[in-house]
Amino acid sequence: MFLTVFFLLVALCTQGGNGKEGEEAQRPGHVSVVIVGGTGDLAKKYLWQGFFQLYINQVNSGNTFSFYGGGQSPTEKATPVLFEILKAVSCSKDVSQERCALLKDQFLRLAQYRQLKSLEDYQDLAKHIEQQLQEEGMTEAGRLFYLSVPAFAYADIAEKINSSCRPKSGAWLRVVLEKPFGHDYGSAQVLASQLRSSLTEEEMYRIDHYLGKQVVSKMLPFRIQNKKLLDPIWNKHHIERVEIVLKETLDVKGRIAFYDQYGVIRDVLQNHLTEVMTLLTMRLPKNVSRSEEVLGNKLQILSSMLPLGKNQAVIGQYQTYKAEVQQELNKTKDHVSHTPTFAAVLAQIDDAQYEGMPILLISGKMLDERVGYARVLFKNDIFCVQNHNNVHCKPKQIVFYFGHGSLQYPAILVSKNLFKPALVDSEWKEVTEHKDVNVFGLPISDFYIQTPMEQKEAYAELISHIFLGQKNSFISTENLLASWDLWTPLLSSLASTFPRIYPGGADNADVLDIHLKGKDVSYNNEVVIISTDHLGGTSTNGFQVMQGKFRSSEMVSAWAEQLVDKLAADIQEAAEAAIYEGGVFHLALSGGSTPLALFHRLADHHFTFPWRNTHVWMVDERCVLPTELESNFRNLHDHLLQHVRIPYYNIHPMPVHLNQRLCVEEDGGALMYEKQLIKLVNSSSFHFVLLGVGYDGHTASLFPGGKTDELGDSLVALTESPSKPHQRMSLTFNVINRARKVALLVMGKGKHELITQLSRVKDNPDKWPVTGVKPTNGNLVWYIDYDALLG
Ligand code: BG6
Repeated sequence: MFLTVFFLLVALCTQGGNGKEGEEAQRPGHVSVVIVGGTGDLAKKYLWQGFFQLYINQVNSGNTFSFYGGGQSPTEKATPVLFEILKAVSCSKDVSQERCALLKDQFLRLAQYRQLKSLEDYQDLAKHIEQQLQEEGMTEAGRLFYLSVPAFAYADIAEKINSSCRPKSGAWLRVVLEKPFGHDYGSAQVLASQLRSSLTEEEMYRIDHYLGKQVVSKMLPFRIQNKKLLDPIWNKHHIERVEIVLKETLDVKGRIAFYDQYGVIRDVLQNHLTEVMTLLTMRLPKNVSRSEEVLGNKLQILSSMLPLGKNQAVIGQYQTYKAEVQQELNKTKDHVSHTPTFAAVLAQIDDAQYEGMPILLISGKMLDERVGYARVLFKNDIFCVQNHNNVHCKPKQIVFYFGHGSLQYPAILVSKNLFKPALVDSEWKEVTEHKDVNVFGLPISDFYIQTPMEQKEAYAELISHIFLGQKNSFISTENLLASWDLWTPLLSSLASTFPRIYPGGADNADVLDIHLKGKDVSYNNEVVIISTDHLGGTSTNGFQVMQGKFRSSEMVSAWAEQLVDKLAADIQEAAEAAIYEGGVFHLALSGGSTPLALFHRLADHHFTFPWRNTHVWMVDERCVLPTELESNFRNLHDHLLQHVRIPYYNIHPMPVHLNQRLCVEEDGGALMYEKQLIKLVNSSSFHFVLLGVGYDGHTASLFPGGKTDELGDSLVALTESPSKPHQRMSLTFNVINRARKVALLVMGKGKHELITQLSRVKDNPDKWPVTGVKPTNGNLVWYIDYDALLG
């Protein structure tokens, strides 16, 4: 039978089909396609149709095929199921009915079901393939395994393929994998290394079906073809913001077992929307089909993203989700899930071209409409005094419209007041007849629109790329890990955040509207539809900034964000008062990671801070070069000083690097700083000193057992830390306790135990250096967040 089919195939070769892809540098021959999970949902909906399309395109290319649907079920049971699926495949419009019937008949004859459960099953499959090759005297071109199975089965199947189903040398092996590729950075890495022990990078094809969407696959070609016009405006100076949006109307009923483990960020943002973002912002490759260059440029963008934290995201959950979870996962009525079904994330790229340009990634279930797009909105600096409808006054934008929504077809739209773009492909056409439709509130006649002549399924497109060995539209291990590296810290920081509950559909109204503030994003309105039962009875809403006492000094406490806001406001108030009184404000700042949030707050929100009259000093420094990541000055510079307009001569880094060496006593760095301080700071009394406290009770760089009394009258000293880098320079208590105001900032659950201890111990600066902070004429205020205070 196989022989007949083969001859029929050869006969069909003369009857059309484009055969274009067969020109690729892979030798023609016999190809075995195995869909593991061949009777599953994805296979049924997209994969078999995609492979049929491939078959039609390749029928006259000199390649022959066999198709195997594999699965756990016994052959007798699953064969009829497979054939029901196969019977439903269809041809595109350009194939005549007779030819379609013939091709379909062929396709069905070339297909069979095989149970693929044990290693023996895979061995039998391999034997079967080899026997066929031998009987028909065919050369083998390759074997394509499509793993349409849950990800936990990947490693095991890959191992079986590796040990029993590899083709002889000269023929290729390609193994296709579907997301999820892990759950976070760690699990993605584990899966990657398991797979790497069975397959080479070259052999793995990780699918992101968004890369097969017609508009998404033309984003790079569009940028390249319109490069001359886009180059001058594709940057932070001209782009107001980028929006990458996938809105869906459906809920996740029926998928909860999977979805509740993942949520919208893992399901859509980490993969589909991130891929789109890289395509929009990556450096253009010289050649779009050179995978190495495309993937390398994507990696470069992923590596230059600013880290994502809690302040860069808002999350939501549709109201009925909770009940769906309880039902599908068999949970009790008090079960609460934190899994977000909506998320809006503000990403930014830390490079000269895009720095500060907001990139919004948004997706959600149960929203008002189904639509997906990437929109680049440009700044418009023209003000029309009389005619607001004048084309020059209208928004300027480029929209990559993936489909659905008001337009209902995939398209690339360019505002007519921008430029007329070239067509991306000969298979695309310009849309000139406009229906009465609005896009983002504008009539579509305001845009130049281009669309594919024929709409094609993403999977069919990607299957043809797999067949051709084009890896540029797949995810490499390196890029996958880089993406998880970006998303994992955000996911961890959101783990205990309660999503805002939204009603779903049109009723959401403005509940999910968001507001961009510098690098942060928040919900635009304060309505919080969270019932207390959702919080398990412990409402956090009541907490505001709280005043109290700690170790007999004043204490301010709040959630971290409000605490930092309050401290920043107090510093600004102190600055204004000092400048009003004496024209200058002397501020000494600590190092470490705790103050970084404060630095950001000051840089991003305190635009009226009187930096011109402020002198910034350092409480302590590590004896490292200022270019090192550990340098306190480098942190201060990167997170605060470089973002504000402070005169250079008002900045006073500690001189830890003199005579090309670090912190050598005889170089006199400490003395030098002391002299500078005495010269500039009235009575060596800082207006404000910001301190932190370490787990061992150290403050500034004054460590337990450091014998502070041996430091005599000095104001600045070289000290030793028990942890690396050991050598430090630090202000001493002599100067700290002369300050007008000292703030001790303590944040994070990790400091709870320390705070509990400190609340009990007596003053003993040798053991607990922080207890030596006792301003003589000034004021000490503890700023402790709820995590540190309440644990
Ligand atoms: C899938 C997600 O990857 O993408 C789904 O798992 C989501 O939750 C889907 O609905 C969206 O894809 P499309 O092609 O319908 O936009």
